[in-house]
Amino acid sequence: MLKVSFSDRAIPAKGTLVLSVFDGAVLGEKGNELNSEANGLLVDFMARREFTGSAGSMQTITKPAGLDYEELILVGFGKAEKLTALSVEEAGGRTFARLCDLGITDAAMVLELPDGAALDADEVAARFGSGAVLRDYRFDKYKTDHGVKKDGDDSKSKKAKDDKRLKKLKIITSSAAKAKKAFADYEAVANGVHIARDLVSEPANELYPVSYAKRVKELESLGLEVEILDQKELEKKGMKALLSVGHGSERDSALVVMIYRGAETGKSGSKAKGKGKGKNAEFTTPPVAFIGKGITFDTGGISLKPAAGMGDMKWDMGGSASVVGAMAALAGRKAKVNAVGVIALAENMPSGRATRPGDIIGSLSGQTIEVLNTDAEGRLVLADALWYTEDRFKPQFMIDLATLTGAIIVALGKEFAGMFADDDTLAEQLTAAGKQVGDKVWRMPLDPAYDKMLETDGADMKNIGGRDAGSATAAHFLKRFVRDVPWVHLDIAGMAWSGKTTPFTPKGGTGYGVRLLDQLVRDNYEK
Ligand code: BES
Ligand code: MN
Ligand code: ZN
Repeated sequence: MLKVSFSDRAIPAKGTLVLSVFDGAVLGEKGNELNSEANGLLVDFMARREFTGSAGSMQTITKPAGLDYEELILVGFGKAEKLTALSVEEAGGRTFARLCDLGITDAAMVLELPDGAALDADEVAARFGSGAVLRDYRFDKYKTDHGVKKDGDDSKSKKAKDDKRLKKLKIITSSAAKAKKAFADYEAVANGVHIARDLVSEPANELYPVSYAKRVKELESLGLEVEILDQKELEKKGMKALLSVGHGSERDSALVVMIYRGAETGKSGSKAKGKGKGKNAEFTTPPVAFIGKGITFDTGGISLKPAAGMGDMKWDMGGSASVVGAMAALAGRKAKVNAVGVIALAENMPSGRATRPGDIIGSLSGQTIEVLNTDAEGRLVLADALWYTEDRFKPQFMIDLATLTGAIIVALGKEFAGMFADDDTLAEQLTAAGKQVGDKVWRMPLDPAYDKMLETDGADMKNIGGRDAGSATAAHFLKRFVRDVPWVHLDIAGMAWSGKTTPFTPKGGTGYGVRLLDQLVRDNYEK
């Protein structure tokens, strides 16, 4: 793991140095000193390469004449007055990747802001560190050094590669103490992102409902309370919709509840359990609630999916991973908020016990559902999870995240999550949070006409609405299991996994949603 530190002392004269450059090839005071020391080398070099310091650009000078560095890396930040947290994080991520490519394990960075910068020095330093830490992720636990190797070739050795990653980054800034404090929070959030990526990347033979629940339980060390409702408990409670999805699987289903109490007043805390006089006996202030779809593998069930690409369905638990990561982030940075995370875990398999198309099932809410397509399973597990969450916690709001429909990928591609909201305030807050952290959302319509498409003769509703507007009818299905609290559904089918690397997100599980929910809370729901 990369260790980021902050210092306001002198810059080292040796090793690898990273230097911030702003639009117009503008160097800071220290940058200019280095340039003089090297007889104008930096300015000459930038002019020759037509390097202007635009955002996203970078140049490496190996063994700069007149200076003692191995590598001097110029990182472009663009226009100072246009600086955003996101652009700085991207610079941090890119720099981390470049340093790793060069095989550098230890580097210092000089971050100097020109006048009129849109962000303070401490925030820029901390966000730069955040971007680097976010980019410092690999899922390689199943890579081994076993097998036949050609003579003299150890390029594939995992260990050798490990040693060649950046381990230490010292950021030199005028505001080191404040930067360090801000960075501690971002590091906790990045840890949440990494937890989500790990869960999403894990294959379904390793990560199934019960093993998943155990892994979440381990997060109690961060200050979360974790309850596991096992198959038996779910049967007792009557979560028939959730259970119907796991019915065909050899693996038991589960529901995991994470509770974080960051806004409890006085000593009451968990002791207040059952004694409260308000609507919710478990908290003195109502929690915010996040609910996640956790299908550990989605074969489609009896409505079997085609073989091509089915392996992708190991990440059909992406929504739940975002919820786990977000809860870990809030607890890790000790956010002043009460929050609950509820994840519905099941494996959707075909078998002699599996739910059949045409089956009519019950649900925790009492409503009945005609299952016309067993591949529309996410909405079934979420139906019970939403009902349970509202019933038990009376939260301020509920946000569910789910890799729910292929149709949302057709509509929005891999740029935006689809957002279905019955509350304008919450929708606006999420949109703003998404822009800040780069977890973008785009609002999609809810309308009674879509709801009508779920009507059927034999039961209260069917689980598919037909070919048209597949993401909207899925959202309306969920809406039938929400009563009195503001609710937003995020369809993240296009976002949980990426085939391409972006500045601070390596390809693979993205951890989408963790930063979004954290930012939402940070901006609007902390005391
Ligand atoms: N998990 C899938 C949705 C999905 C598809 C996520 C591709 C990520 C990538 C979901 O359970 C599903 O199968 N949805 C069906 C719904 C249909 C049967 C109404 C779909 O989108 O085809
Ligand atoms: Mn499915
Ligand atoms: Zn699914």
